[in-house]
Amino acid sequence: MAKQPRLAAGRARALGLPTRGTTNPNRLRRVDRWMVGSAAVREALVPGALVVDLGYGATPVTTVEMAARLRTVRPDLRMVGLELDQERVAAASDAADPPLLAFRRGGFELAGLRPVLVRAFNVLRQYSEEDALQAWDGLRGRLAPGGLLVEGTCDEIGRRCCWVLLDETGPLTFTVACKPSDLETPSDVAERLPKALIHRNVPGERVHDLLAALDDCWATAAPYAPFGPRARWVETCRMVAERGWPVLDDRRRWRLGELTVPWSTVAPASTPGSVP
Ligand SMILES: C[S@@+](CC[C@H](N)C(=O)[O-])C[C@H]1O[C@@H](n2cnc3c(N)ncnc32)[C@H](O)[C@@H]1O
Repeated sequence: MAKQPRLAAGRARALGLPTRGTTNPNRLRRVDRWMVGSAAVREALVPGALVVDLGYGATPVTTVEMAARLRTVRPDLRMVGLELDQERVAAASDAADPPLLAFRRGGFELAGLRPVLVRAFNVLRQYSEEDALQAWDGLRGRLAPGGLLVEGTCDEIGRRCCWVLLDETGPLTFTVACKPSDLETPSDVAERLPKALIHRNVPGERVHDLLAALDDCWATAAPYAPFGPRARWVETCRMVAERGWPVLDDRRRWRLGELTVPWSTVAPASTPGSVP
């Protein structure tokens, strides 16, 4: 049985483990761009939508950016950044613009809010796999009807990213997003897999098969290298789809360095704790 994430010290009702708040301007541009282009996210952003950025870090910059980007879809959305760390909440007050943009102390309980969209980026990696899966369940249960959770991880400057889209029923899709010119091979993104998958990049697990297929197609797509890394990535994705992977997106998104597949094609084959 997994240990429940403890309450942050000395404060009531904010579930989670505060950590270093590493963040950077524009770090989350790829997931924001994907959300803006996602039919599911656009549909979730109903008039007056409440959106939460969970765990925004040392500065609220990525929350401010997320609000601006999503407002191209829904100009009247209300954005709330939640942090476990009270000092980070106080420091964010200068960026607030109530009631459209607010910062509050909160954790997995979402400070009692019921948002239509939650982004939790670079938050769950510090938890155990079991705790991260419990956090998924808890967060899904706190969404408004029709709500979505986007949970993922990226490097410090947002060139290698992976995320999972979930709704109240569970995980739906898995996305890799990268700057192809930053890659030696596509499996370089493995170190940025979300917690639910990072221990699963071993033979016998589906996510390992996907990364191996990407690497193999990347090698086969070498003749496209003279046209640039982006053209090689597009061809790599086309070949992965041709091999039978049920790729959900198309050339338009591949050109942005993305690839999205159903969660079922990467879901762990075994239960947490059974793989080192
Ligand atoms: C590495 S920073 C990520 C900042 C930003 N999201 C980004 O990707 O650049 C992780 C932040 O999540 C916060 N955090 C960890 N667990 C949390 C939880 N359960 N609820 C809210 N914030 C949490 C930590 O305090 C830390 O500030």
